[in-house]
Amino acid sequence: MTLRIDPTRALPLQAYRDADVFEHERHTIWRGGWVFVGTVDQVAEPGDWFATELGGQPIIVRRDQQGELGALANVCAHRGTLLVEGAGNDKRFQCPYHSWTYRDDGSLMAVPHSGDDDIDKADWCLPRYRCEAWNGLVFVSINEKVSSLAERFAHLDPIVAPHGIESLHHWTSQRESETWAANWKLVMANAMESYHLFAIHPDTLEPYTPTSGSYYIAGNAHGTATGGQEKGQDDYVLLSLPPNFVGVISNNAFLYQVVVPVAADRTTVVSGGAFAETDPATSSAVGSFLKRTAARVSESLVPDFLPEDKAICERGQLAASGDFEPGPILGVERVLVDFHTYLAEAYARESAG
Ligand code: FES
Ligand SMILES: [Fe+2]
Repeated sequence: MTLRIDPTRALPLQAYRDADVFEHERHTIWRGGWVFVGTVDQVAEPGDWFATELGGQPIIVRRDQQGELGALANVCAHRGTLLVEGAGNDKRFQCPYHSWTYRDDGSLMAVPHSGDDDIDKADWCLPRYRCEAWNGLVFVSINEKVSSLAERFAHLDPIVAPHGIESLHHWTSQRESETWAANWKLVMANAMESYHLFAIHPDTLEPYTPTSGSYYIAGNAHGTATGGQEKGQDDYVLLSLPPNFVGVISNNAFLYQVVVPVAADRTTVVSGGAFAETDPATSSAVGSFLKRTAARVSESLVPDFLPEDKAICERGQLAASGDFEPGPILGVERVLVDFHTYLAEAYARESAG
């Protein structure tokens, strides 16, 4: 893969259309480093687990009986069947095919009818993956050789920690996911930058969070915090953690968007959120907007602004087959320079195979 990008310019359109870029990303991004998988409340109690996938690798995220977070391959070591689906609370995982049974540390404990077959159970454990939480957000890395989340996001900690995301009441439902006809990077970049609010969301977001009130706080290739003014209220914080997480924190309300790449030109977009149970009023304009949005999403209605984002991202994809000299990134969308730096580093890495 020879794609080279200049972080201060728009992405070359090959990044949105080429199958070999998509395949390279599968190894260097989705299986090559930390990826957001959920919030700590989804695995709050010992035994809690949920199934998800990273770059096509099925995984189980779980909290063990000692209370430690961890991740396992969700693929039976016998003949490769998907072990579990959805979410639950269990001490062990049993394959539905021939009932091989694994402890929550991935070790194989039971092989029915193995009889005289000489199976050393220690040889057939489920692979374990790095799994850590940062401010209530859970990440998994299939690549073992990554620095800790605490190190990776140290520059964002002073901005995010005071908001207490981990103690908010979260909701997540795959029912709110929908698939857009756009590359995942178009969806991520659009979620990160506030430049487009005045033009794409004149009635839904601009009145609450105008483009002119947005600003850059701190960031690097691993993650960026931007902020924005809200009339008569505390400013909101927008947290962008590539490859797949963008969340807005405002007065005890928290709404996030996660992307799951399906193909070079298709992306599943999942919405989630959280609210302070002790402060249902969420007095600010953005807070109450997010709360209204969340209430509607929880009734399986999409938020007001998502169809507007979907339309502009899909319009971006329509141009992806064209010739293009990448245009300049402006100061108002500086978060994209961080995102492009993240991508440039990933594209420069050799695919792990
Ligand atoms: S494939 Fe899982 S027990 Fe056979
Ligand atoms: Fe938008």
